[in-house]
Amino acid sequence: VSAEIRVGLEPPYTVHVGPGRLALAGELARERSGAVVTDGRVAALHGARLAALGDWPWVQVPRGEQAKTLAQVGALLEELDAAGLDRRSLLVTFGGGSVSDLGGLVASLYMRGIDVLHCPTTLLAQVDAAVGGKTGVDVGPAKNLAGTFHQPIAVVADVGVLATLAEPELRSGLGEVLKSALLEQPPRGAPPLFEVLERDAERLLGRDAEALETVVERCVRQKAAVVAGDERDQGARRGLNLGHTFAHAIEAASGFSVPHGVAVAAGLALALEASRRAGRLEDPGLPERVGRLLARLSLPTSLADLRAAAGPLDPVRLEQALGHDKKRAGGELRFVLPRRVGCVALDVAVEPALVRALLA
Ligand SMILES: NC(=O)c1ccc[n+]([C@@H]2O[C@H](COP(=O)([O-])OP(=O)(O)OC[C@H]3O[C@@H](n4cnc5c(N)ncnc54)[C@H](O)[C@@H]3O)[C@@H](O)[C@H]2O)c1
Ligand SMILES: [Zn+2]
Repeated sequence: VSAEIRVGLEPPYTVHVGPGRLALAGELARERSGAVVTDGRVAALHGARLAALGDWPWVQVPRGEQAKTLAQVGALLEELDAAGLDRRSLLVTFGGGSVSDLGGLVASLYMRGIDVLHCPTTLLAQVDAAVGGKTGVDVGPAKNLAGTFHQPIAVVADVGVLATLAEPELRSGLGEVLKSALLEQPPRGAPPLFEVLERDAERLLGRDAEALETVVERCVRQKAAVVAGDERDQGARRGLNLGHTFAHAIEAASGFSVPHGVAVAAGLALALEASRRAGRLEDPGLPERVGRLLARLSLPTSLADLRAAAGPLDPVRLEQALGHDKKRAGGELRFVLPRRVGCVALDVAVEPALVRALLA
């Protein structure tokens, strides 16, 4: 089985989901010049799956968030220039969200913009980062401060590569999957993704290929639908930030040692609690139901839970990091708050005292 999901932007593009799909990358790149940007682990584990691009230059960037710096942008631009890429060349990203965020940004800058094809290799990148066209790198403590919108020509999500994910990366992806499940309007006749997760939590943690494929497909459908209606974050796309205001603060306060999706999981728990205390929750049983699922997925069920695993996460640093988000948002901190499965409240101003209490 495999799925082709269309992202209805101008021009539209396809996200190919399924086992063995990386063979398609060779076809999409046929008769073009280009380069592959990847990291050392992905190249070593899965490079053979991209053998069709074996005679292109392969550029390796540092693993993880360390790839997302302005210094790496400069280095990669120089490598592409040295490799002789021109404005008709194609940049193929092959790795997790760090690689697609950096590679997407560089593709948007090189000679004022060249095509990019994303081949995401982590669960998080397949369900989220590689779809939707947001690129970016961090500047100092400010996550994704420098970025662009640059849509790929296609996305090839080969679920076969997920078998080698280490447990922390798998769990991180599942945090982002849970976010999608809280936002999803299920396709007609299908059970909500949230119920699929409740059914399959242990299979997913066990890297069951079929369960993972279902989840990737459903999350991509969810994100594609939202992005198609709001490419540039002016309306509904802001719902995708559910849990992320808190998550970005957690990542910054931890010096980026807490993986993104793990921070998102804690952020979802905080957003649910904020929603309850601010009187926005419609389904009073939701926080407990989400908490049970988070626990089964080995994800933090609260900030206290995350602190027990990841260290103190100083409330003052968390608040400072939120303050940073506030400046970027134009002076007011606005939250996405869950109301029930499939329904969030956008742009809610939460009392500073309540935010402080949640972070304590
Ligand atoms: N642009 C967006 O819309 C968007 C959305 C969500 C997240 N992000 C960004 O994505 C980044 C996180 O990406 P990520 O979680 O994919 O991790 P990552 O790219 O940082 O990679 C994490 C680790 O996983 C390893 N890895 C990758 N694929 C593997 C595989 N198949 N088997 C074994 N190991 C593998 C990598 O080598 C690396 O060490 C964050 O910077 C986040 O901000 C962007
Ligand atoms: Zn995210």
